[in-house]
Amino acid sequence: MDQIRLAFVGCGGHSSGSLQPNVPMIDEIDFVAVADLDESRGAKSAKRYGVKAYTDFKEMINTENLDAVAIVGPPEMHHQLGIECLRMGVNVFLEKPPAVTAAGAEELCAAAEESGKAGMVATMWRHDPAHKIMKQFMEDPEFGQPTFFEGHFIAPGPRSAIWGAETAFMGYLLAQGVHIVDCTRFLMGDITQVHTAAFEGEGGAVSMAVSLQFASGAAGIMGLAAAAPVLQTRMLVVGDGGGMVEVYNGNHVRASKKQSWCGTPGGYMDYPTLEWNQGWGQPGYRRIAYAEELKHFAQCLIAGEQPHASLEDSHQAMRVLEAIDESRRTGKPVEL
Ligand SMILES: NC(=O)c1ccc[n+]([C@@H]2O[C@H](COP(=O)([O-])OP(=O)(O)OC[C@H]3O[C@@H](n4cnc5c(N)ncnc54)[C@H](O)[C@@H]3O)[C@@H](O)[C@H]2O)c1
Repeated sequence: MDQIRLAFVGCGGHSSGSLQPNVPMIDEIDFVAVADLDESRGAKSAKRYGVKAYTDFKEMINTENLDAVAIVGPPEMHHQLGIECLRMGVNVFLEKPPAVTAAGAEELCAAAEESGKAGMVATMWRHDPAHKIMKQFMEDPEFGQPTFFEGHFIAPGPRSAIWGAETAFMGYLLAQGVHIVDCTRFLMGDITQVHTAAFEGEGGAVSMAVSLQFASGAAGIMGLAAAAPVLQTRMLVVGDGGGMVEVYNGNHVRASKKQSWCGTPGGYMDYPTLEWNQGWGQPGYRRIAYAEELKHFAQCLIAGEQPHASLEDSHQAMRVLEAIDESRRTGKPVEL
């Protein structure tokens, strides 16, 4: 097999605006069909990509001999339809978050296990070339053992209790926090303790500052704020071999190896850094990671490998989100 037969379930804003336009650029994907309850949405994608449109995803699966479906909608849809599609024998690519609770994500893991099919969740920061470069840099023995992480994700919203969440805090965690938590685990490994300080302003202007302890023993800090004027991200890691690497907005890497003090009085006068910026020529629509994550999914299915973020990765990320929220409510550290 050198291509997977893929269909989309859900042709809403993110699906038709950011994911589907990347598919024709990916050699490993044969885009064959779409399903949406809203006939006009499916028809639009069908016309644009020359694929068949259905309103019933089960009829589509039974007719099209699919290898995989990309399910893109609200998290309840990822959860419920994800389980049904796995049980029908197709691999699933699910938008984030995979469910509204960690228990829901765990049910998806169990369904994948039972069916022998693979699932991936589209927490795409880990597919940004800059975050992949960051991880490679951390793996250089000269970098040393990571000792410290600092990251933030500020965004205009959401500022409300979306998707049935009880608070604006949980709404922000489910919609945005899931990205930074997944990428933090991708870089640093498992998180074993969180302790959250929080602020709630008018109109859902929530913020959280989370202290983190990693299974590796490293310490970290994570900042999350809704109602910011811009969407901005940063990830920074320090290693005990003398390395430091940071990524700004998922597309700009700045890194330093061992302190190379050249003898200037004071010792802090020179800052030897390597920098990498994503250029114009990167192939991808809207954000290169949208193309990269879909390509990764297809390549893994072709090679018979488990794509990442796996359903288990997403389950662990959901556990961390729930722990951050529990610590916010109780004011106490939460162990994972
Ligand atoms: N990674 C990112 O950068 C990013 C950015 C934006 C949104 N997202 C994620 O994308 C998702 C939202 O996607 P969207 O904007 O495409 O959603 P949407 O709500 O606009 O669309 C969902 C579509 O699914 C259809 N649908 C619902 N139930 C169905 C069913 N049973 N069968 C077939 N179709 C069904 C609806 O008719 C609708 O057209 C969210 O989970 C969000 O977290 C991710």
